[in-house]
Amino acid sequence: MSSAPSPAPARRRRRRAIAFGAGIVAVGVVAAPLAASAHGHQPPGHPSTQDDTLRSLAASSGLRIGAAINTDKLGTDDAYTTIAADQFSTVSPENVMKWDTIEPTQGTYNFAPADKLVAFAQQNGQLVRGHTLVWHNQLPSWLTAEAASLSADQLRAILKKHIQTEVSHFKGKIWQWDVVNEAFNDDGTPRDDIWSQKLGDGYIADAFRWAHQADPKAKLFYNDYNIEYTGAKSDAVYAMVKKLQAQGVPIDGVGFQDHLDTQYGTPNLQETMQKFADLGLDTAVTEADVRTTLPVTAVEQTAQNSMWSQSLAACLLVKRCISFTIWGIDDGSSWVPSTFPGEGAALLWDDQYQPKAQFSVLQQTLELAAGAPHRTR
Ligand code: G3I
Repeated sequence: MSSAPSPAPARRRRRRAIAFGAGIVAVGVVAAPLAASAHGHQPPGHPSTQDDTLRSLAASSGLRIGAAINTDKLGTDDAYTTIAADQFSTVSPENVMKWDTIEPTQGTYNFAPADKLVAFAQQNGQLVRGHTLVWHNQLPSWLTAEAASLSADQLRAILKKHIQTEVSHFKGKIWQWDVVNEAFNDDGTPRDDIWSQKLGDGYIADAFRWAHQADPKAKLFYNDYNIEYTGAKSDAVYAMVKKLQAQGVPIDGVGFQDHLDTQYGTPNLQETMQKFADLGLDTAVTEADVRTTLPVTAVEQTAQNSMWSQSLAACLLVKRCISFTIWGIDDGSSWVPSTFPGEGAALLWDDQYQPKAQFSVLQQTLELAAGAPHRTR
């Protein structure tokens, strides 16, 4: 149904000086940062010098690896910008494609921050995951203020206009769209938000149809958290997706956010993703991070390493898993500490942009996977 837009011609990326060796303390799973000399492969379009960036290593397995980007830091924070450009082959807007940013006042659009990200991606040979069109959160205040007084037809018309305007604006520039985000509760019941209250569950099919009309080539995803685990929520999303398929709704994939916490253990992500892939869908890890309580103990660090490795391996083992996106770059700008006080250390770089053991874990996992020549994506 869909195909990826052609990425910008792979450019020969300038290698910038980043002290990747510094600060890497290997605990548990990983012995040491990858030696550059370990790489006998060079993906097309990459420099002939040794390239142990995540994007280069992932390319060897046909996988896109991405990060959620804070566009305020692009071009203003050199270390952040360098990592974003060099390490990743897809980018996701952490916030700037959400409705409250895109249409802060009804009928007045603010595409500039997201356009900046799309331009950055094109300059760096990266694809873009659009995030997100329909969600209960980060809605503009004009909408939440008037929602209760709107009829179902009025709300449906507003949602249709939003989707068609935003998707049309970025037509041809978005690889995957998170069309609907987090529509279920953990017990598998529909989330009680303005969409389900006023429109019933039909808004989900409508959203996919409208997005497809506006950009027929974009891959359209349903995206959620905690569906990495088998259970009521994953079952509910599975049933919904099967129903959408039976109705001929243009859904291409399911995104597994993969926000993990060492205290809850490792999900059976591979098994769950494979179940969705067996429906003929693409899958993606869309928002990976692994938080823990602070300060991080050696045991927690070991658990984090293991959970990162298992998440990435799960994606590598499911052929229809087409991208692995990390929800941020550095611990200093992660969403975790403000949402879970006392927790953090969820990302691959620390707040000084020093790569952590988790970074080496992902390098090593990708390096091992590159020895599996049967993989094609
Ligand atoms: O933009 C305002 C700024 O004007 C204001 O001064 C400041 C004061 O707090 O707030 C700013 O907005 C914040 C926004 O991020 C942009 O920085 C919001 O308060 C804050 O709540 C918002 O958090 C985002 C969160 O979604 C909202 O739910 C996080 O950055 C973002 O990482 C997070 O991402 C979500 C995914 O979209 C969906 N899945 C879960 C994931 C984590 O919650």
